Amino acid sequence: MHVKHLSLGNFRNYKTAELALGPGVTVLVGRNGQGKTNLVEAIGYCSTLTSHRVSGYIPLIKTQTNKAVIRLLAEHQERQNLIELELNAEGSNRAKINRGDLSRIRDVLGYIQTVIFAPEDLNLIKGDPSDRRNFLDQLLVQISPRLAGTLSDYDRVLKQRNTLLKTSRFLKADSPGLATLDAWDQSLVELGSEIILQRENLVELLRPYLASSYRAISEEKNDPSMFIKTSVLSSSVDLESDNSYQEQSQDKGEIAHAFLRRLKDLRAKELERGVTLVGPHRDDLVLMLGELPAKGYISHGETWSYALSLKLACVGLLKSKSQSGDPILILDDVFAELDTVRRSRLVDLISGNEQVIITAAVVEDIPEIANARIYNVTNGEVELANG
Ligand SMILES: Nc1ncnc2c1ncn2[C@@H]1O[C@H](COP(=O)(O)OP(=O)(O)O)[C@@H](O)[C@H]1O
Ligand SMILES: [Mg+2]
Repeated sequence: MHVKHLSLGNFRNYKTAELALGPGVTVLVGRNGQGKTNLVEAIGYCSTLTSHRVSGYIPLIKTQTNKAVIRLLAEHQERQNLIELELNAEGSNRAKINRGDLSRIRDVLGYIQTVIFAPEDLNLIKGDPSDRRNFLDQLLVQISPRLAGTLSDYDRVLKQRNTLLKTSRFLKADSPGLATLDAWDQSLVELGSEIILQRENLVELLRPYLASSYRAISEEKNDPSMFIKTSVLSSSVDLESDNSYQEQSQDKGEIAHAFLRRLKDLRAKELERGVTLVGPHRDDLVLMLGELPAKGYISHGETWSYALSLKLACVGLLKSKSQSGDPILILDDVFAELDTVRRSRLVDLISGNEQVIITAAVVEDIPEIANARIYNVTNGEVELANG
């Protein structure tokens, strides 16, 4: 699929923007701080309802205003969908598809798929488990939009359970006052086991794409591998230091059983600390390169290759799962960071994708790409530079 047109109103530093796009490569060029990333962020937001650089949507609304609008016309084989999002500083956000109101904003998921690769993605390797969980979850909702509901229900149950833990702090672990907690445990386990299982299945599907992408990008001999480490099957609350980690089950009943048992074992500790200590919100995706964990061991160059391979793996998987062709591939400010060999390999790998949008401070950072459409971005204004 591709984006045919993007309109913005009061989004980030744009009062308004109109951007005609099409299949092939589009390059957005401009000095730092002019609004290049803001444009691709708007496109990405339509595919996951999250930004690749902030949590929440308030920073997306232009300062001194209270409503941002994103309007995106997507096309696949002559079929078009108009996605419209309204982000409100006060009051709930709204979405329309082809001018019809959606009852829930998350029903907008599934109309377009994107993969964004940006310098922030080095955090996939170097950052916290939450960066890797978000990576998996954003890919999950693009493949199975219904899981957005499961994820948000889990978050809600988790918050309520934590509140209850805090207020029940001084009750004994076997107090009858804790019966409500048992009910929350059931919901937590039901939703959480589904998330754990879906993430596990996703990683399984992603694995072959990661291996082939890494080989295509990098000279390194070592192969990447990855697995999910779930707190539910760990015997320690400190997941990172648990090296006796066992193979994850692929059976939801078994996961649920283990989850519930852990909650029982940990109840006294949870009451003491006032937080839920196990569940998918505590899990991690462990990335290995050869025999070593990527985090804390691999070089800067390898980190770039690894992060890039993960994103290219997403492209491969989304392509194989989608009814609507290639995901929209966005490369935000990454060419400047890559050496010439990786630059040209990357261009070879992406040039077959239906639509690719690249941002760069100077056009010289990007290898010559035939027929690329080039826009200059200057202080919240976009202007076609060629064609
Ligand atoms: N909510 C907002 N309201 C107004 N301006 C914003 C908002 N969020 C970001 N900006 C401005 O947008 C600019 C950054 O745009 P960005 O797209 O990140 O630049 P770049 O071209 O370097 O990718 C900054 O000047 C920043 O002040
Ligand atoms: Mg930028």
